[in-house]
Amino acid sequence: MRAEDATCIEDLRLIARRRVPRAFFDYAEAGSYAEETLRANRADLARLKLRQRVLVDVSTRSTATHIVGEPLAVPLVLAPVAMTGLEHGNGEILACRAAHAAGVQFTLSTMSICSIEDVAAEVDRPFWFQLYVMKDRGFVRSLIERAAAARCSALVVTVDLQVLGQRHIDIKNGLAVPPSLKLRNLLDMAIRPRWVASVLAGRRWTFGNLAGHVKGTGGVKSLAQWVGAQFDQALSWNDIEWIRSIWPGKLILKGILDVEDARMAVRSGASALVVSNHGGRQLDGAPSSISALPAIADAVGGDIEVAFDGGVRTGADLLRALALGARACMIGRSFVFGLGAGGEAGVRRAIEILRKELDVAMALTATRSIAEAGRHTLAAD
Ligand SMILES: Cc1cc2nc3c(=O)[nH]c(=O)nc-3n(C[C@H](O)[C@H](O)[C@H](O)COP(=O)(O)O)c2cc1C
Repeated sequence: MRAEDATCIEDLRLIARRRVPRAFFDYAEAGSYAEETLRANRADLARLKLRQRVLVDVSTRSTATHIVGEPLAVPLVLAPVAMTGLEHGNGEILACRAAHAAGVQFTLSTMSICSIEDVAAEVDRPFWFQLYVMKDRGFVRSLIERAAAARCSALVVTVDLQVLGQRHIDIKNGLAVPPSLKLRNLLDMAIRPRWVASVLAGRRWTFGNLAGHVKGTGGVKSLAQWVGAQFDQALSWNDIEWIRSIWPGKLILKGILDVEDARMAVRSGASALVVSNHGGRQLDGAPSSISALPAIADAVGGDIEVAFDGGVRTGADLLRALALGARACMIGRSFVFGLGAGGEAGVRRAIEILRKELDVAMALTATRSIAEAGRHTLAAD
């Protein structure tokens, strides 16, 4: 099956599993430790039932909305995903183009393969940049300045990665810090010619935002080591204040799972927060994102825009999150599977699948606009 013929995100996942080398596919799919939080993200979404309504005129309806002042044709933003460019050559550029063509937004990870400048040169609309705050604040400042120079329209500061959650499979596959790919990894890549061709054509296989910008680091291995030592366990709300003082645009805090932290986010002056547990890749045993969403939306939804991510694989999932107070959802794996399955066309397919599913779910719940979604959109338990 080709990505263009996929009828659901699961199809894209299965195609990607065939096309992407095992180590990179596993890297995208896995969660941390026992993967309890990863599984809870999906299971808790699926448990929420939508309320079927009939005989309401739904002939005019729209999936359009806004977030941080930007229009979205579908309440969707592609989440920052490290090493997207190793799921498919030039992955970040292709995913950004697909997002913009579909009228949604794209977020470039600090740990991307294509750099901020690479992506900016290849797309004609501003995208968002995600920041990991490293110990080297001079480097962080330069990243922020580069994002501003590239006209990124929002800075997404990820706040849930002051230490790294462990994914067992990455260690087994040699994708740890530092990476130590084994002969079997190389053989596994060699039997996937489409992937090899795309990555060779992309000519980028290191951390684009860091290579050449971090002193004393040569290859990927030493860069990865530098990064591994750079996550800052001392990160605090004072740093958010500092970032606000040097970033001129919209600020979004990603990785909020607790009402107290959400209140702090409001006080920090951020424009939006993302309720997220990093796709089940950080604190295993943390609640699912969807179970954390309603209390946060109730507490701060009037003061700050609330976005959501974690486990979104269908349009019904999008509607569930909107019903519980999210303004928009980020998707990680759903677009990464599309990218691995078919490059730009695969990401376009992923977004189109979710858009169509959302549209049908809206019609069958008598939800004519995103603003109309609310608790009443869900069936009582
Ligand atoms: C392969 C992979 C890499 C990720 N890299 C980053 C990253 O660099 N920065 C970040 O803020 N979040 C990162 N995340 C988390 C995503 O931004 C997002 O929170 C998560 O994927 C949402 O869950 P979902 O994949 O179920 O949609 C990553 C997630 C995945 C799956």
